[in-house]
Amino acid sequence: MEKFIIYGGKPLYGDITVSGSKNATLGILPAVLLAENPCIIENVPDILDVKIIVDMLTALGAKCAWMSKNVIKIDPRNVKSHKAISESISTLRGSYYFIGALLGRFGKAEVSLPGGCNLGPRPIDLHLKGFNALGADTVEEYGMVKTNAKKGLKGTSIYLDGVTVGATINLMLAASRAEGNTIIENCAREPHVVDVANFLNAMGANIKGAGTDTIRIKGCKEIKGGITYSIIPDQIEAGTFMVAAAATKGDVTLRNIIPRHQESLTAKLQEMNVGIEEGDDYIRVFHKGRMNGANVKTLPYPGFPTDMQPQITALLSLADGDSVVSEGIWDRFQYVDELKRMGAMIKVEGRTAYITGNRKYKGTFVKCTDLRAGAALVIAALASEGRSDVYNIKYIDRGYDGFEKKLAQLGADIHRVKAEEFPI
Ligand code: EPU
Repeated sequence: MEKFIIYGGKPLYGDITVSGSKNATLGILPAVLLAENPCIIENVPDILDVKIIVDMLTALGAKCAWMSKNVIKIDPRNVKSHKAISESISTLRGSYYFIGALLGRFGKAEVSLPGGCNLGPRPIDLHLKGFNALGADTVEEYGMVKTNAKKGLKGTSIYLDGVTVGATINLMLAASRAEGNTIIENCAREPHVVDVANFLNAMGANIKGAGTDTIRIKGCKEIKGGITYSIIPDQIEAGTFMVAAAATKGDVTLRNIIPRHQESLTAKLQEMNVGIEEGDDYIRVFHKGRMNGANVKTLPYPGFPTDMQPQITALLSLADGDSVVSEGIWDRFQYVDELKRMGAMIKVEGRTAYITGNRKYKGTFVKCTDLRAGAALVIAALASEGRSDVYNIKYIDRGYDGFEKKLAQLGADIHRVKAEEFPI
């Protein structure tokens, strides 16, 4: 076990380059299973979740070779099994993309899946309903999904009852190799949905409309692959550093980003009186003076991302005036108790947090309850007076590439050390 020791109160200054998108990578790496030839994927983030996906691909028989720290070559030609079953995959939500990818390739799949999760219930009923609409028979039992399209996958019309990133991507994967045309309506429009579609098209699939709420897929008998593809920058990593810059009253430029993907956050920070300067592929975030409180509601893209909710809540406690944050996607306020130990005053009622502003953070012992909660606690620790010990950083390692190194590069006093049990 490891923890971060952070001595707060230092403004972050300087430039960092944002890594590739975690959630795009979790879709793109399994998508290579649909291809006839090896693919080279660039800008892959160096995170724990990616290591688990690569181990799973290897266990299936794919040859995975790291060409450098962030570039991997995946050769899917030797994959003979439709079964992705392992203990490590069952700790990773994104493992559900193996269902769509293996179903597309073999017409059947067996995949072990995680049970509970720190964000509350995480159903995949809409994924399974979609697979069945494509002609598969699917059962979910004993921690496994088993699906089989005995007569082959057939294109069809699918209306998703809710906007879901996972089901949109999973159905694109399977339908890419179905016979005939598929139309998926009420799709998620997140940048990583578009990136997975772009990757599939570059490999030879035929997908139109990704980024809108209607996606049309012309099924292909064969998807050639044999391409080199670079993953888009991570919208949430960029957002996390933007909020960290504001919280520490710093001046930070994020490079290698797509400013359009940050719009909902940029607008909120501007509303709070945080300085923002934008270029084609960078955003600079700087301290302008006192921050105002603001109200935030998380929604599917292009709304404010749920994966930035803990971080913005940590920031709003420091602003003048009170704020209200409503969570529209998950049950994810578990971290609030930790933030309160650092000095926040927040009342949670259901999926709404009422935040008293003008608080000052003071360093103490806290523990991460999930990935983005961990990022929020680090932000609070950076803005704190004194020393903080942030435990359970395995969550942060799942999704942020070189988090503390990038923070240290910006001047943060942050150290990774071995840790015993959480002290209280
Ligand atoms: N939902 C259903 N049925 C389904 C699928 C989803 O009811 O079959 C509901 C969920 O309960 C939730 C909503 O639909 O209320 C949205 O879920 P979605 O499917 O969009 O989430 P996901 O695909 O499981 C991805 C990211 C999450 C991110 C959400 C929302 C990956 C691997 N994970 O999850 O990322 O919070 O989209 O944007 O892409 C993170 O990176 O920290 C993270 C949790």
